Amino acid sequence: MKTNAVLEAIKNRRSVRTYTEQQVSKEDLDAILEAATYAPNGMHLETWHFTAIQNKEKLTLLNEHIRGAFAKSDDKRLQERGNNVNYNCYYHAPTLIIVSNEPTQWWAGMDCAVALENIFLAAQSLGIGSCWINQLGTTCDDPEVRAYLTSLGVPEHHKVYGCAALGYANTPLKEKKLKEDTITVVG
Ligand SMILES: Cc1cc2nc3c(=O)[nH]c(=O)nc-3n(C[C@H](O)[C@H](O)[C@H](O)COP(=O)(O)O)c2cc1C
Repeated sequence: MKTNAVLEAIKNRRSVRTYTEQQVSKEDLDAILEAATYAPNGMHLETWHFTAIQNKEKLTLLNEHIRGAFAKSDDKRLQERGNNVNYNCYYHAPTLIIVSNEPTQWWAGMDCAVALENIFLAAQSLGIGSCWINQLGTTCDDPEVRAYLTSLGVPEHHKVYGCAALGYANTPLKEKKLKEDTITVVG
């Protein structure tokens, strides 16, 4: 199989769910955020926003607000998470990038998804682990969560389509098991 640095980064990336305390440097974070803004986006509107948080207390408080929203849910599984003091949706990663967009275009979430993949691959290329964190997707419009997101700098009318946890992996990464029959090539 043909390979190069980009293909290796794609193939070696795995979701990281245990992190060391080591913070991502400003230089690396800046490079990752810049990579995000180079992603393709519908009609080149660039209405997305990237809110990067590296403050442990602020991340803990964000998790508390998400737990609060889950605790109000009708869904038993979410209620359990909300009431579990040990639940941490971002796996205690030292950095979290919130990726949001104006929900006015139907492809707003797609813009965010391709930006997130750029984030994951840029991080991988710098030796930094990452994971997609989805819990703000369903909780960003809870009043308490929204007020806190606004205080962090997430634009008020934006929906959160995903987040990227970033940091250094604390455990070895799993090997990828490929699912069969997911590719068709028509010659
Ligand atoms: C749309 C989307 C949402 C996801 N949400 C979460 C999440 O909230 N928490 C999490 O741990 N992983 C989340 N993931 C990561 C997937 O679980 C992961 O990519 C999948 O298990 C394949 O593993 P790999 O990334 O290591 O290849 C999400 C991935 C995508 C694309």
